[in-house]
Amino acid sequence: MALLLVFGAPALAQELPPGRAAELERLVLQDCGSCHGMTLKGGLGPDIRAETLAGTPSEGLAAIILDGVPGTAMPPWRPLLSDAEAAWIAGYLLDGGNE
Ligand code: HEC
Repeated sequence: MALLLVFGAPALAQELPPGRAAELERLVLQDCGSCHGMTLKGGLGPDIRAETLAGTPSEGLAAIILDGVPGTAMPPWRPLLSDAEAAWIAGYLLDGGNE
């Protein structure tokens, strides 16, 4: 598991301060996973694995992450995440970094 975290997204991780990528990865698995399922294949929230999101523009995903989906359980994460961090998570999801 630790190795997967380290090698999961080396290129993207460079855009964030040291250690932040690992924190975001934990956030995705724990906080996002609490609704989207531990393996992100769906729960209260829909399946957000790479194969399901394929073709979705990463800017669109980052916008959903930052602002949530009004009228649904999907909360806005802007209070916790910067634009760069939301973009990192969008790339992480599209790259299937959770697998
Ligand atoms: C409280 C529950 C909850 C949490 C926590 C949550 N989500 Fe969601 N999410 C949802 C729901 C419900 C939807 C579906 C909204 C709709 O009906 O369009 C959704 C939709 C999405 C979508 C759009 C999927 C699509 O196919 O359109 C993405 C991407 C997403 N969430 C990512 C995340 C990420 C990343 C996190 C963690 C930072 C997160 N979510 C945390 C409930 C949650």
